[in-house]
This record gives sequence, structure tokens and C-alpha cells, in this order.
Amino acid sequence: MIAVRDIAYVRVQVEDLNAQETFLKDFGLRVCSRTATSLQMAACNGGYPAYIAERGANKALGVGYRVDSLEDLQRIGAHFNLEVVNNAEVGAGWSVTLQDPDGQRVDLLYGGDVIPAAAVRPAFVLNNAEKRRRLGTTTRLQVQPSHVMRLGHVVLKTVNFAAMFSFYHDLLGFRVSDSYFGGEPENTVATFMHCGLGAEFTDHHTVALINMGATQPAFDHCAFEVLDWDDLACGSQFLSQKEYAHSWGIGRHVQGSQIFDYWLDPAGNKIEHWTDGDLVNDATPTTNEALSLEGLAQWAPPLSPDFLA
Ligand SMILES: [Fe+2]
Repeated sequence: MIAVRDIAYVRVQVEDLNAQETFLKDFGLRVCSRTATSLQMAACNGGYPAYIAERGANKALGVGYRVDSLEDLQRIGAHFNLEVVNNAEVGAGWSVTLQDPDGQRVDLLYGGDVIPAAAVRPAFVLNNAEKRRRLGTTTRLQVQPSHVMRLGHVVLKTVNFAAMFSFYHDLLGFRVSDSYFGGEPENTVATFMHCGLGAEFTDHHTVALINMGATQPAFDHCAFEVLDWDDLACGSQFLSQKEYAHSWGIGRHVQGSQIFDYWLDPAGNKIEHWTDGDLVNDATPTTNEALSLEGLAQWAPPLSPDFLA
């Protein structure tokens, strides 16, 4: 039907917006809008807000995705008999709002990515034993919040896997990168999906669906790309000094190959910093492997038993 270009934001509801704002600033996002009942945070790349929170009982509300044209919005809007409207929330562009089969809000967005980018240091050039590329210069860093450049992906715990797969695959154009199964190979328990952009390379996963007995729809986690490896490590030390709850990391995943670091926000939600992920296109070979805790990372500290809870 259409092909989503990229993820723009996650939308959540949290009880304590002040605590969430403080944490997200320490995590590496910046405030772009704040009222008594709402919070919008931007990443360094700008564009749309990367994180939208409303005050209320803790829960996931939905996700925003960018598309490539107004015609895409009109086409999918017509399919659902929904109107394309001016995007009043960000004050620019157009949007159409759907519900996925789990009842989560899906905003499709065009033309409203107007938040200016923030200045950041250049990503580091690293020397290794094979290639000496940083010549005659030093590396000097400060322990500080990571430079969160963009939202990269969301992992959805679904209560309706077949319908959710069909919605994201058939209507929004996502394509499978890799899957995990439990028991029989047909019993998919997790599928990692990339934006279906043909030959164009894109993140290994922008959406992943987890099919492991959730009783209600939820985010497993949302994940933000940081500037580089050192930026992830400095941000990890900074969050640790602030005594936030660490979940898992630093390690390197298998599916997607990202270097990852997971934290818990004040509402108890898992949130990830990552860097150096795989880029795939629609011709990249896919795999379907048996799920195991050891199979989640190539190297990492021991996994806490509640990581998959
Ligand atoms: Fe992730």
C-alpha cells in the first residue's frame, strides 16, 4: 500500500512528567514543548519530536512514522476512510491517524519535520590495528549525556501477532529482516522489520513485533541512535552516576548488530541507546533462528532474567 520512510516518535503516557523530563534530558534528549499535561522531546537531528509524553497512568499510546509524500497519506487515508489533516500537534505538515490491530495509535506524517538540528561534535574516527586514520590528534571526552541523534526503532509486544504482522507488512510496507522462533520454526516469537525502501539501505529494524504471550499491547522498548561508540559509553557512565536503573549492556546484539545499552526510565519502561547497527535493503538475506537468551548478544554482561518479562 505505502512504504514508511522512517520512525519519527513514540507516544507514551506517564504519571510523573517532571521525572520523565529530567530523565530524558539526562538520557540525551532536549525539550521542544512542555505544558502541564504534555511533553515533547527532540533528538539532535531535529525534524519531528522524537518522544511525546502525556500525563496519565503509565502506558504506551502509539508511534509516529514519516512517509515520503502527501499522496501516500491520501492513499492510506482513503483506504481507511480517514481524512488527512493539518498536523496541529507540531504546527506544520499533514498527518493521518490510524489504529493498528492492537488498538495502538499510528500517526503517519508528512511535511512537519521542522525542529532545527542541534550542533554536535563530529563522530570520532577510530584507529584500529589495520587502519591508522586518526593522525596527530588526541581524543578528549567528557562524561555527559549522550548525543541522541534520532529515534531508531520501537519493539511492540503484541496480543494479535498475525493481524499486526499483516498491518505493518501489507499496509505500511515493512519487510522482514530476521526472525526468532520458539519450538517449531513456524512459531515466530519475534520479527524484526525494516522500512521497505527497495534497494535503498535502511536500519535493520524500525519496528519489531514480539509474540510471547503479552496480555495487553505494550512497548518492549524504544531505542535511540547516539553519535558513536564513545558517546554511548560516556552516556552510560553519566546515567550510572545519576543512579538511574540500568537494565542491560553495554553489549553487541546479534539481530541488527547494534552496540546497545538499556536503561529503565522513571516509569519503569525499557529505553535503549544504540550505535553501529546493520543497514539492510529488501535484497538482504533473512534468517529465522531459535530464540535463546544467549542468542540476543554476541558479547555483553550477563542478561537479567527480567529482560524479556
Ligand atoms: Fe532495540
